[in-house]
Amino acid sequence: MGLNDFLKQNSFELVRKIAHGYSSEVFLAKHLPSGNLFALKVEKEKSRRVKMLEKEAGNLLLANSEGIGPKLFAFDPVERIVVMEFIDGIPFNKWLEKGPSKKQLALFVKKLQAQAKKLDSLSLDHGQLAGKGKNILARKAGKNFEPVIVDFEKGSQCRKCHNFSRLDGFLFKNPKSFVSRKVKQILEIQE
Ligand SMILES: Nc1ncnc2c1ncn2[C@@H]1O[C@H](COP(=O)(O)OP(=O)(O)O)[C@@H](O)[C@H]1O
Ligand SMILES: [Mg+2]
Repeated sequence: MGLNDFLKQNSFELVRKIAHGYSSEVFLAKHLPSGNLFALKVEKEKSRRVKMLEKEAGNLLLANSEGIGPKLFAFDPVERIVVMEFIDGIPFNKWLEKGPSKKQLALFVKKLQAQAKKLDSLSLDHGQLAGKGKNILARKAGKNFEPVIVDFEKGSQCRKCHNFSRLDGFLFKNPKSFVSRKVKQILEIQE
């Protein structure tokens, strides 16, 4: 079998590829009976990351218990595919480039901080919240935007959790990064 057989057997139609990384690809697929859109994370055959999708699914399920992350719908351990809610949004760094208003960004940051705190209290360390900001999507919600954290494959349920502190550094304390500079500029935070 493969992705095409999985799609056919489960009545999905491929819409497009969303992203491709070193060890996996993410596709947008339409569930034909319902017309609903889903994101499918598919492990590449060459991937050597042990139990990568098992971790993605397990961590996502735990995060979902606090309303965090895309909703997990299914995991096929044989075909190596995770089926989850499609988040119609753009990466945080791209959204920042577009120049959200002070009010929009302040609300977004507040929601993001609350999610990081919840992950800390779940003892679920995301592990890759900082960086370029690609694992945080900004999704339109009325006049505002809400954060949706994705990519839980490198998360850990046993490590000491640093979500809130890492996020704090990423958002405000890295003078060399575009994200910190832009966030502080928009929120008018003085050095
Ligand atoms: N549920 C989703 N809905 C929409 N886009 C997603 C979803 N999950 C991932 N993506 C997009 O695909 C990209 C790669 O997925 P990710 O899980 O981060 O894989 P990788 O391990 O390759 O970084 C993300 O940065 C995001 O833009
Ligand atoms: Mg990622």
